[in-house]
Order: sequence, then C-alpha cells, then structure tokens
Amino acid sequence: MNDVKIADITIRYATADDNTLLAELGARTFYDTFAADNTPENMASYLAASFSPEKQAAELNDLLSVFLIAEVDGATVGFARLKEGQPRVIDIGLRSIEIARIYACKEWIGHGVGANLMKACLSEAEKRGCDTVWTSVWEHNTRAQMFYRKWGFVETGTQIFQLGDDLQNDLLMKRRVRFSETFHASFDEMSL
Ligand SMILES: CC(C)(COP(=O)(O)OP(=O)(O)OC[C@H]1O[C@@H](n2cnc3c(N)ncnc32)[C@H](O)[C@@H]1OP(=O)(O)O)[C@@H](O)C(=O)NCCC(=O)NCCS
Repeated sequence: MNDVKIADITIRYATADDNTLLAELGARTFYDTFAADNTPENMASYLAASFSPEKQAAELNDLLSVFLIAEVDGATVGFARLKEGQPRVIDIGLRSIEIARIYACKEWIGHGVGANLMKACLSEAEKRGCDTVWTSVWEHNTRAQMFYRKWGFVETGTQIFQLGDDLQNDLLMKRRVRFSETFHASFDEMSL
C-alpha cells in the first residue's frame, strides 16, 4: 500500500470549491496529529473554531493566503497553507511568508508528500517575491521539527499557541526561500 514514487504525487492550487474538502481534511489531519497528546475538550474547542466550510472559504478568499493540495491519482493525500506575513512576536523581515499548515494524511506520512508540498511552498514563496519562509511548530512535535530541519529551517524564537484553554510553546523556525534543496543541516544561522 502507498507504494508510489515521489514523482507520482502531484500538487495543485486549491480553488474556491475546495472549502468543504479543506475543512474536513484540516480537521482530520489536525486530529490525527495532536489528539493523542491533548484533552478531548481542548481538541474539540480548537477544531470547532478552526475548521468549517465557511472558515476555509474565508481563508481561500484571502489574497495573502494560498492552499496547495497534494494528490495521488486524483485522491487527496495532504495539503499546505501559506500566508504572507510575520510572526506576532519577532520581526523576521517584511518579505516573509508562513507555512501556516503542512499535513500529509496519516497513511501517507513518510512517502514524500511533505517533500513535494515543501518544494511547492518554496516555489510559491519565490513567485510571490518573498525572501524568508517561516513556521511555528509545537515543541513536542519532533517529527515535524526534524522535517523542517532537513529542509534547512533553523530555530529563531518561540511563540505561544492556544489550543482550547492550553497555552503551548511553539518553536519559530525559518529559512531563506532560495538555496539548494539538497543541503542538509550543517548550514547554520550565519548563512541565512
Ligand atoms: C511533517 C510532515 C508534513 C512531513 O511530511 P512527510 O510526507 O511525512 O515527509 P516526507 O515523506 O517528504 O519525508 C519524510 C521522510 O520520508 C522519506 N521519503 C520521502 N519519499 C519517500 C518515498 N517515496 N518512500 C519512502 N520514504 C520516503 C524522506 O526521505 C524522509 O525521510 P527522513 O526524514 O527520515 O530522512 C508529515 O510528517 C505530517 O503530516 N506530520 C503530521 C502533521 C504535522 O506535524 N505537520 C506540521 C505541523 S507544524
């Protein structure tokens, strides 16, 4: 199962008609990733506030934001959302863009969906004239941190993320939009 080559994963822009799909996909992947480590009440509160066809329709309408959908043979296997702008707490430059969400469906994790989405995010960031891409990732989400590090992101601070009534510590990570995709973690902050 899921025996596909990385080349079989395609990425497309979401359209206005994808709001219901993105609401369901966003809620499902968030739940799959974080439910085991959070209370049902906090999960329910966050999911209700963050995912609905109306909420994702508004996000799809936001010109500063773009959704990318990963597919294999027409089936959705992951998505990412980019949003132009800065973190709330530190200044990392005017031409910055956030990877606000990046998720592979759970049965597809480790099969190149994230790599394809990341390439598309970097390409979109470049198209929009951004020079820095950043993200915030839960301090306990070590798999995602490893993924970002592999893609050249370095830690640049922290910020609070609220899940229901739980105030959580997120790491802020950033990288320049342009440099070789093949480079690995030996690049340090001085190089950015
Ligand atoms: C973080 C995340 C998006 C990364 O996506 P992914 O699809 O798992 O990542 P990739 O498959 O591209 O890369 C992960 C590993 O699989 C390997 N891989 C890539 N293509 C592969 C393929 N065709 N077959 C097997 N393995 C493959 C990569 O080499 C990489 O290995 P390594 O990092 O151990 O060296 C994914 O793990 C995820 O959705 N996690 C849950 C949600 C989450 O935490 N999101 C971030 C919130 S901040």
